[in-house]
Amino acid sequence: MLTGAGISAESGVPTFRGPGGLWKSFKSEDLATPGAFARDPKLVWEWYEWRRTLLAKVEPNAGHRALASLEDSSPDFSLVTQNVDGLHERSGSRRVTSIHGSIWRVRCTGCGAESTDDRVPLPKLPPLCGCGALVRPGVVWFGEPLPRKAWAEAERAVSNCDLLLVIGTSAQVYPAASLIPMAAQAGARVIEINLEETPLSGITSLSLRGKAGDILPQLIS
Ligand code: OAD
Repeated sequence: MLTGAGISAESGVPTFRGPGGLWKSFKSEDLATPGAFARDPKLVWEWYEWRRTLLAKVEPNAGHRALASLEDSSPDFSLVTQNVDGLHERSGSRRVTSIHGSIWRVRCTGCGAESTDDRVPLPKLPPLCGCGALVRPGVVWFGEPLPRKAWAEAERAVSNCDLLLVIGTSAQVYPAASLIPMAAQAGARVIEINLEETPLSGITSLSLRGKAGDILPQLIS
């Protein structure tokens, strides 16, 4: 399984692109790059705090739950997500490979200490580490490499699967989107679940048009 923001849309989490997408109202270069954080860490943190506050109030949906139940009944199952929202884990998925990090993880820019911090709101913005340095969100920003271990696991999973379900991603952000042709080239069937066509729809074996929360429970029952 490869998921993107679309699977959380029915939980009330805004996607990035398309109608109502975050990148329609906000500039990624002001909020989601190392340069933006260096210029104005408080502004960047305020944006993440707004997203964390929103996420703390939403619940996983039928799409997340269907994937969690599939994991329970399939010994050879991998779930790779671009989402940082933690909703897969909250719906019961256990083996989640988060290639873009997690909005609930924080990392010190000085000593590198990393931890989970799900307090909403955080007591102080921007947060500081015990070592005195700034703490940053544990997500991947534009221009940064993906976490090495998670990416290796994602490549391993798609290169060895019989079937890749690609759910709710615009397939525009690389290297994440490259997992789709990687699976196809390795001989997997690729099924896309999306409201609309994507740049990689052409290489999928089947495109199911509709909401993940409607289609996944029907597919996985
Ligand atoms: P996007 O916002 O780019 O795409 C969301 C996709 O979900 C679109 O193709 C929609 O058509 C589809 N969609 C919306 N609602 C849906 C639903 N209910 N059921 C099925 N599909 C639905 O999100 P991503 O592809 O995840 O990166 O974006 C990739 C990355 O770009 C994100 O991880 C983030 C962002 O910038 C970083 O932050 C590094």
